[in-house]
Amino acid sequence: MRHKITDRPDIRHIIAERVSRRGFLLGAGATMGAVAAQGFVGSLFSGAAHAQAAASSLKFTELKRVYDDMHHVADGYDARVVVGWGDPMKAGDAVIDVATMDAAQQADRFGYNCDFVAYMPLPRGSQSSDHGLLCVNNEYVSNNVMFPGMTEDDSVNMTADQVALCNMAIGHSIVEIKRTGGVWAVVQDSPMNRRLTLETEFAISGPVAGHDWMKTSYDPTGRMVRGTNYNCGGGVTPWGTVLTCEEGASDTFGGDITTTAFPEVLERYGYDGSDYYARAKYDPRFDISVEPNEPNRFDWVVEIDPYEPTSTPVKRTALGRMAHEAATVVLNKDGRVVVYMGDDDYFEYVYRFVSDGTYDPANPASGKDILDAGTLSVAVYHADGTLNWLPLVQGQGPLTAENGFATQADVLLKTRLAADALGATPMDRPEDMETNPVTGRVYAIMTKNKKMTADKLNPVNTRPENHYGHIVEMIPPGGTGADADHTADSYTWDLFVLAGNPKDPAHGAAFHPDTTEDGWFVTPDNLTFDPKGRMFVATDGANDFDIPDGVYGVDTEGPARGLPKLLFTCPIGAEATGPCFTPDGSTLFVSVQHPAEDSETLEVATTRWPDFKGTNLPRPAVVAITRVDGGEVAS
Ligand code: FEO
Ligand code: CA
Ligand code: CA
Repeated sequence: MRHKITDRPDIRHIIAERVSRRGFLLGAGATMGAVAAQGFVGSLFSGAAHAQAAASSLKFTELKRVYDDMHHVADGYDARVVVGWGDPMKAGDAVIDVATMDAAQQADRFGYNCDFVAYMPLPRGSQSSDHGLLCVNNEYVSNNVMFPGMTEDDSVNMTADQVALCNMAIGHSIVEIKRTGGVWAVVQDSPMNRRLTLETEFAISGPVAGHDWMKTSYDPTGRMVRGTNYNCGGGVTPWGTVLTCEEGASDTFGGDITTTAFPEVLERYGYDGSDYYARAKYDPRFDISVEPNEPNRFDWVVEIDPYEPTSTPVKRTALGRMAHEAATVVLNKDGRVVVYMGDDDYFEYVYRFVSDGTYDPANPASGKDILDAGTLSVAVYHADGTLNWLPLVQGQGPLTAENGFATQADVLLKTRLAADALGATPMDRPEDMETNPVTGRVYAIMTKNKKMTADKLNPVNTRPENHYGHIVEMIPPGGTGADADHTADSYTWDLFVLAGNPKDPAHGAAFHPDTTEDGWFVTPDNLTFDPKGRMFVATDGANDFDIPDGVYGVDTEGPARGLPKLLFTCPIGAEATGPCFTPDGSTLFVSVQHPAEDSETLEVATTRWPDFKGTNLPRPAVVAITRVDGGEVAS
């Protein structure tokens, strides 16, 4: 992500715990602070269990880190582009030079800056790993490497044609893909291919639908909205739909927030009228002074049925309003549906939704609208290694009419303010969350937080100026795998790894001690698990450390717990994101987002990946990683 993320007032930061949790558990009495934090986490990896050389369960030979204009993958693997920006998705459309593409052409072609990837097998309900729908978020545009002579900050000066193209380049792309002879390719004439853009119509459902704050001149009902925006992470439901997350529309609106009835809410969500992509300049619905309620219709989780190309996608307001990074779905053992979500901004929170209803796998229709009713909670992490989920329910605790929460819709429209009132734990920018399918443990990535200071540390965010990120492990009670109770009020938690260079004491990193020169990572962003429960982490921000972003496999269990191995690296300027396996684990799809974005302008692009033909533009694209000899990627 590149878009603006916001500050929040210091008053909301909880006081740092003075006792290291691990030190407390071990009876060591270690004191808090960066040095003590390094000490206690280091103890994780220096005990007898790790004295022997660890044998990673991941059998590939680690990639040697290479930082250049190309992607790289470990020996014995292929990494091929499946689909990228501007590729045709409609019968009869020709391959064109994206430098000449207009908005109408873009509306039928693969979008820009690919992020979250869902592989949905075909036919629906099957486990096919050779034929499916690739459902991909298109988060935002990198105007400095799309248009000649334009710097990043020139986005506010884009022409009407350029803005129209950008509005069609974002959203979501669905393409049918098939693997033939080991190679994935798009089925260009598939009737299931579909683009969702800033002009697509979406329904609004759940408690906020129809609220006065959701009504606009275009939609006086408050139940329908054009467009989706900043689609970042996501999730897949057991009934075969895709959840795409809107990660904060704050910098895409112009106008004056003080002209609205809720300036304190818009301020809490970072709205400042900056109109970074010049939308308001050409379309008054993005001018807050003209359409004060339009911002309230973004920053939700959207459910898409990719198997029904004419279906209307739905913004599910019961899941809360935030800079949604991910929406990871778990079917709890009692049939209730659980969604884990992060709010990716400085000092924001980790959330969980538990449905009221239950889902029956024998009756996929029982999933329809199940995400419209349930309990949204926010996490508080304690120094004793436990965490609590605090329900955001109107009428409970401080969430009363006197405090501005007259209805549950008010609570959801002001999710961040409600979570503030409950005393949730501020985090180092929560990105992806995923559940290990084997152990049932939940992992939450804190990507980094340069604004963290010593006085704001807390038990689960332990480093000032955290430029490196860390991964939190959350352990539901009830047992492993399917026995884990993802609806419990209280879990335990641990720090899984602290990212950074283990050889640089200033980083305070903590990985398994056998981590190699090529294996350590910084700025984790997304993660997924292979069918055997091994974690794969994708990074966003390593370019600041003069190393490429990439994908790392990590054991979470056994003697190699916390030992990362480098599998894949991106070309310069790009982040790796959206890692996603086929059901059989034989293909790992990865989005290569914003190649060459580190360039001042297109003329000096640091890479022309993936085409490298003359002056071709760099193109974000989804890559399929497979083993040359077939079989599971990480057998
Ligand atoms: Fe779009 Fe939080 O990365
Ligand atoms: Ca990110
Ligand atoms: Ca992300």
